[in-house]
Amino acid sequence: MVTQTADLKKRFYQQHLLSTEYITSGELTAFYDFIESFKLEEKLGCLRGQIALNLFFESSTRTRMSFASAFQRLGGSIIEMGSENLTSIKKGESLEDMSKVISSYGDIMILRHPEERAVECFAKTASIPVINAGNGIGEHPTQALLDIYTIQKECRRVSLDYLTICLVGDLKYGRTVHSLIKLLANYKAVQFYFVSPSELKMPADLTAMLKLRGHTVIETDKLETSVQTVEVIYMTRIQQERFSSQQDFLICAEAYSLNQAFYERYCKQEPILLHPLPRNSSLSQKEFDSTLENHPKLAVFRQAHYGVLVRMALLSLILKGN
Ligand code: NCD
Repeated sequence: MVTQTADLKKRFYQQHLLSTEYITSGELTAFYDFIESFKLEEKLGCLRGQIALNLFFESSTRTRMSFASAFQRLGGSIIEMGSENLTSIKKGESLEDMSKVISSYGDIMILRHPEERAVECFAKTASIPVINAGNGIGEHPTQALLDIYTIQKECRRVSLDYLTICLVGDLKYGRTVHSLIKLLANYKAVQFYFVSPSELKMPADLTAMLKLRGHTVIETDKLETSVQTVEVIYMTRIQQERFSSQQDFLICAEAYSLNQAFYERYCKQEPILLHPLPRNSSLSQKEFDSTLENHPKLAVFRQAHYGVLVRMALLSLILKGN
């Protein structure tokens, strides 16, 4: 336990969080133990006087607002960057220069950017910690931390060893699943079903990493044969903004939709249903159909709700070390 707490501090205190790749299983265990012991009433106000810089160069509701909510609940305040059009990036300033300058305006940067390399550029010259809140098609580490927390809660599991999980949809461009599988790789013998159209398969280096670490990976485009034995179905949105043509997007857009009849017929283990949200409500075939709206296993809103607690714990660790 002593080593675990030391690991946790070393991993997070005043450190950037750009990827889930280097988080170890000891650090993960210690992080979720830390959340369990996290006493909200003792923590409220612990970041009084501190400032978070919310730098969102791409649209966001949950991540931006839940970070703001978490930070303010801990007593800190937020500077919102506002529209990119009103920043000096539009005058040709580099991300590195921007990061160096604004480091003296706050205590932590929370950055979302459409380019994968942007978080590295910011981290290179920042003198305060940078949290990656989504870098293009790369990663979304804090979403993955809250996804693991949700699976533990909803499946009533402490360890996720031998978990069976089906990830569905845009596995190529969906950054949440990239971060999530890197965390899940820390557990023992996880069974992964990757269900996607052939155009949107999980990047080969990530499936190779999982196999190398002793996990089972089954890749297919068929949902019905992949959900029968799983404990978790993690649905994702087809990332329209990452396609170069509307036509290519439409071919994949409605590839997977789950409704109650399908759930009752194929989902024999009564898996929990997760989604990082947003769901695309403009499609005629929704990712989760309205017949599942009140289903007890549809955990997507609880998942979003857990994001505030998980981010409070993380911010407290990064800025206070406990
Ligand atoms: C995701 C994202 O932005 O990567 N949403 C989120 O942060 N909860 C998923 C998505 O946009 O589809």
